[in-house]
Amino acid sequence: MTGPTALEDRDADGARRFSPSAARNRDPILRVFLTHMPRAGAILEIGSGTGEHAVHLAAALPDARFLPGDPDAEARASIAAWTAHSGLSNVAPPHALDVAAEGWERAVARPLAGIVSINMIHIAPFEAARGLFAGAGRLLGSGGRLFLYGPFSRNGAHTARSNAEFDASLKARDPRWGVRDLDRDLLPLAGAAGLALAVVVAMPSNNFSAVFERA
Ligand SMILES: C[S@@+](CC[C@H](N)C(=O)[O-])C[C@H]1O[C@@H](n2cnc3c(N)ncnc32)[C@H](O)[C@@H]1O
Repeated sequence: MTGPTALEDRDADGARRFSPSAARNRDPILRVFLTHMPRAGAILEIGSGTGEHAVHLAAALPDARFLPGDPDAEARASIAAWTAHSGLSNVAPPHALDVAAEGWERAVARPLAGIVSINMIHIAPFEAARGLFAGAGRLLGSGGRLFLYGPFSRNGAHTARSNAEFDASLKARDPRWGVRDLDRDLLPLAGAAGLALAVVVAMPSNNFSAVFERA
């Protein structure tokens, strides 16, 4: 990995980074999470970025143990700083997992109750989505759930003009990046990993939460 892949300007307080998008979407995400994700057990977060989602979710789920992390060292410093600032005891020190790396899941203790990845798979090569689903299939226990958030297209069509423009801007930055299609790109990966789509929730700003369940 080379450097953070944030697409926004971020303020900082020491090592703690502030993500404007996380400030906007963390409460809508928390609401869906509380309804559709396990409330206890180990929950692995992939591509945690600043760590703001991890502490926000962990504060609302005291019986869950959050395992946030990011391949980027600056992000890991921010995650650790947010965890210390929160005073929460149910957030583990950050891991450095890169889900595009073959066998990444071998470093994780199983079974997990849940896995969450927010705004990651479109800002990474498709190998990251492929590796995330394959690893989730091996790490989640029966009934375990995978939560994805992002601007997915549906059946080959963008759901908003702004998402089509965002997709083009992503591809201009890196042709391997791009908005993923929930039906055509992700459902085949889910099926191959033993996961079924449990629920799709439309979110503000033409994003979606997609929750998958391990058989
Ligand atoms: C746009 S940021 C989103 C951060 C955070 N989830 C949020 O919503 O605020 C995407 C993050 O995914 C991480 N990432 C990119 N490729 C990854 C990979 N292959 N495995 C794990 N994390 C990855 C990046 O380092 C970056 O921190």
